[in-house]
Amino acid sequence: MRIGILNGGGDCAGLNSVTRAVLKAAESKGDTVVGVLEGWNGLMEGKFKQIKFSHFEGLIGSGGTALSTSRTNPLKKPGGLATVERNLKKAKIDALIAVGGDDTLGVATKLSERGFKVVGVPKTIDNDLAGTDYSFGFFTAVDEAMRMLESLATTGRSHGRVMVVEVMGRDAGWISAFAGLAAGANMILVPEFETSPDDVVSLVKSRYRNGQRSALIVVAEGVKLSYDDGKIQKDEFGHPLLAKAAGENNASFLARYIEKEAKVETRATVLGHTIRGTAPNAYDRIMTTMLGYKAVEALHSGRAGVMVAVHGTKVVEVPLAEGSRKKYMDRATWELVSGMFG
Ligand code: F6P
Repeated sequence: MRIGILNGGGDCAGLNSVTRAVLKAAESKGDTVVGVLEGWNGLMEGKFKQIKFSHFEGLIGSGGTALSTSRTNPLKKPGGLATVERNLKKAKIDALIAVGGDDTLGVATKLSERGFKVVGVPKTIDNDLAGTDYSFGFFTAVDEAMRMLESLATTGRSHGRVMVVEVMGRDAGWISAFAGLAAGANMILVPEFETSPDDVVSLVKSRYRNGQRSALIVVAEGVKLSYDDGKIQKDEFGHPLLAKAAGENNASFLARYIEKEAKVETRATVLGHTIRGTAPNAYDRIMTTMLGYKAVEALHSGRAGVMVAVHGTKVVEVPLAEGSRKKYMDRATWELVSGMFG
């Protein structure tokens, strides 16, 4: 077989490790692997690179993606999928491994429905894919965010300040919740369940009344606190482009509000992309190795149209269309998270 592999959407830790595992499994079965550059853009414009295990052997612990990525959506271009199919044919690619989040895997689902052999691999720091317990990249991002939250809490305690920290998570609050729990945050705001700025002010006031002269407040980027005036530039999937977003971020809005209402010194930090480009932790290295290996096995067993997924300690296959749907925080998790506020 000649297998293509692409990385779509935001980068995360473990992308090179997946490619490495795919190459190992494929070469051991006598397959060749073609790297598609720049995600779906590479399939729109015919950008490929012949890759071998030897190129990726040393990359298990590297961040980012050696294949590069993009947020190009062929479904938004006239005749986009037909162009993709034409370029796959030209490059003599028999099957595709698409590594991405819901956007990338949404395109992969459509391609698979038109008869091309595709296997999806769930990747996103946001952990918002329904078919898998965890997407790779998530726990590395959580580790990184946790370390920075602890550092910010330390300086907050030293100065008697409230520290408000915004972390990524476009639609779901998994990163803020897990990193916040792990760092012992006093309050966490997620998009799925409402916490008002006044709830934050009440908590801050009560802490300072009780002599706890600091607070760590974590807010997910996807929480809609005050702004979205319709002028924010969107990518081709309709999501706000963070770097270009006009207006105030959640952290600075909340910090201003707390200072005004609770009358305590407050600082705002946006962790943003800092948690995304780091080296994969051990869990993500192992998970990506299992996922990459199993993706090739699925293709060899003739089971395309699936997403390889983590269920407990096992890697299983789920239908691509179902697996790549959005996963939001459930009430039981929220009860645990909010039960730790204080
Ligand atoms: O890939 C997911 C994510 O990291 C989101 O948490 C965030 O909203 C978005 O990507 C940022 O995208 P970009 O890197 O294109 O600004």
